[in-house]
Amino acid sequence: MNVIQVKASKPYDVCIENGLLDRVGELSAPLLPGRTAALITEETVNSLYGDRAVGALERAGFTVHRLVLPAGEETKCLTRFGEVLEFLASRRLTRTDAVFALGGGVIGDLAGFAAAVYLRGVRYVQIPTTLLAAVDSSVGGKTAIDLSVGKNLAGAFHQPAAVFCDPTLLSTLPPETFSDGCAEVIKYAVLAGEPLYSLLQTPASADWETIITECVSVKRNLVEADEFDTGERMLLNLGHTFGHAIEQASALSVTHGKGVAIGTVAAARLSAHLGLCDPQLPEQIAGLLARYGLPVESPYPAAELEGHMLSDKKRAGKTIRLVLPEGFGRCILRETPIDELPALLREAFPGA
Ligand code: NAD
Ligand code: GLY
Repeated sequence: MNVIQVKASKPYDVCIENGLLDRVGELSAPLLPGRTAALITEETVNSLYGDRAVGALERAGFTVHRLVLPAGEETKCLTRFGEVLEFLASRRLTRTDAVFALGGGVIGDLAGFAAAVYLRGVRYVQIPTTLLAAVDSSVGGKTAIDLSVGKNLAGAFHQPAAVFCDPTLLSTLPPETFSDGCAEVIKYAVLAGEPLYSLLQTPASADWETIITECVSVKRNLVEADEFDTGERMLLNLGHTFGHAIEQASALSVTHGKGVAIGTVAAARLSAHLGLCDPQLPEQIAGLLARYGLPVESPYPAAELEGHMLSDKKRAGKTIRLVLPEGFGRCILRETPIDELPALLREAFPGA
């Protein structure tokens, strides 16, 4: 089993191993004082893996209460958040009991936020079932729900008691969802360089257990350096500021992962224009993304993206914070005056 220790304000392990789902009970039991578990999941994941997760917990002596919510981003809302809290209360969970989040980033964020708030905070365990959740959202303690004005506007930092990642669960993901997760994986390769860059060269023979472990180790380093996201952790936003603008321009028909893929190449093009990286870097990143079936060109012109970028939450007053790659394994944060944005966007999206 690969184990990455996260030394955050509350330390915990991220365990990664093929087949781990069937061992989540025996591995959780020593970490948790109580033996009542609330398993929060959603319909798609429940039909595939819910019974196995419940079985694994029951074999270790847990009494399991299961809540199955609809799948999809709409579930990350105030109404469902209330439903989770009422569920925990009606099943009489106490402060020694624990919430188990079985699903992708939607369930992880929602159940994690409920665990942060219920009885002023109870333990929770993340069992990620998407590639995005495995390499990103299950680690680092960011929990949230969406409000009508925007995504992730209410939330808390609440670190999990453990993360149990079973890469075999990813085999049932729709190809597009898997490919979206690959955009985040390639983002880590740009942030950290080797060994991820080499591990990703041949998609057909990619070793996902090792790749996920490497990504989690990169995220661990950033979370340990900046748990509350005031500095270095913001490097994880590589490709996201441009990517969000593309998602918004498309009225969300361009998925998050595709937006991040296009956005990462745009950041590299801007970096090359500013003389911060080798001129070959944008095409090297684009080549890797394309091998994983991801787009690299924006369907929208620079002028159309400008307004969407200005409404991004990474904007701070008269500047916007961009993450720019200097090479594989070297990225920087750069505060950029918003009046420079139109010209810079033309460089980031030259053909659009
Ligand atoms: P998701 O949870 O909606 O899952 C995507 C789709 O995959 C869903 O339709 C789901 O039913 C399906 N699915 C999940 N696991 C499956 C499996 N093993 N087999 C088949 N189908 C499966 O989306 P996501 O991409 O995992 O997460 C997106 C969310 O994560 C967003 O809300 C985003 O804000 C959040 N996020 C949070 C953080 C963080 O640090 N907390 C970081 C990144 C993203
Ligand atoms: N997904 C960004 C973060 O955890 O900071």
